[in-house]
Amino acid sequence: DPITTPDISTCVASTKGFQPKNAVRTNACCPPTLSKTVKEFVFPNDRATRIRPAAHRASPEYIAKYKAAIQKMRDLEDDDPHSFVSQAKIHCAYCNGGFTQDKHPDKELQIHNSWLFFPFHRWYLYFYERILGKLIDDPTFAIPYWNWDNPAGMSLPDFFEEGGKANPAFDAYRNSSHLAPAIADLDYDGTEKNYTCIKQLSVNLGAMNKQMIRNAGDWKSFFGGEYRAGSDPIGNKDPSVGSVEAGCHTAIHRWVGNSRLPNGEDMGNFYSAGYDPVFYVHHANVDRMWKVWKDLGIRGHIEPPDNDWRNASYVFYDENKELVRVYNKDCVRLEKLKYDYQFAPIPWKNSRP
Ligand code: C2O
Repeated sequence: DPITTPDISTCVASTKGFQPKNAVRTNACCPPTLSKTVKEFVFPNDRATRIRPAAHRASPEYIAKYKAAIQKMRDLEDDDPHSFVSQAKIHCAYCNGGFTQDKHPDKELQIHNSWLFFPFHRWYLYFYERILGKLIDDPTFAIPYWNWDNPAGMSLPDFFEEGGKANPAFDAYRNSSHLAPAIADLDYDGTEKNYTCIKQLSVNLGAMNKQMIRNAGDWKSFFGGEYRAGSDPIGNKDPSVGSVEAGCHTAIHRWVGNSRLPNGEDMGNFYSAGYDPVFYVHHANVDRMWKVWKDLGIRGHIEPPDNDWRNASYVFYDENKELVRVYNKDCVRLEKLKYDYQFAPIPWKNSRP
């Protein structure tokens, strides 16, 4: 059977995957229980498609709008489902033991390290983006993506740091030696390689080629292993974790988080990652990798052909603060979700590691 998110009132404080006694963020991650009724998802009927721009190429006007939206989110009361804190907690609840599986109260619900990784995060960003758009009254608003697979976009976009604390996209828990113009290490494992720029760029392109093509020839190697109702989360056992999830995705989390803190806050741990605005911009590019992987048009590049994948579901508050149940099968086609990605080159297509 498919993994199913239970009634949200069953949520408990998160205790898995981090050290609560050294935490800089709360582990009380359950969603506000405004509503008991869970609606079934309906596709949006927006007139325009939201186009997510590459962060490093975005205009000053767009960045100003993005920041204004984040500021509005930060201004809401914490217990509002649209607040910055509520949005951050979603990740913590779904990733650190807040939920158990529907009808299997003894089994943790964990959306990492398996085939749930890509679809869960696609839905998470889908609602986050629509909430931001609603807060600034712009139904075409789209979040930016951090184009780290492209040499021109490999350092942390400047707008996250400029202006410091007054900047709503700023976060106090980042690794200060990894800010721009440092080039992100897409193979980062916690040790500094101190490569030259040229060398790091080529290592990165090689890593992308491996995770998107050479080691990602079928759905299981790309999406991750099967995870069905009643089973334990797969855990970090290769090769059950998808190539991108295990590779550049995790590398960027660790690269951005403050490695001097015991839990690597914010980006370096699931429970706190959602508190850094970088999280959503990073995940937009992770989500883009799913689209790009499909668009490569290589035989075998298909979604898991399994009903337990298609029917797995999660519960989110939508842009109208209504609870909605969403299914993996409904997030496969971006055109139905009314968003897409601004074009960027695929410079790693022929890179040999
Ligand atoms: Cu849910 Cu990048 O992690």
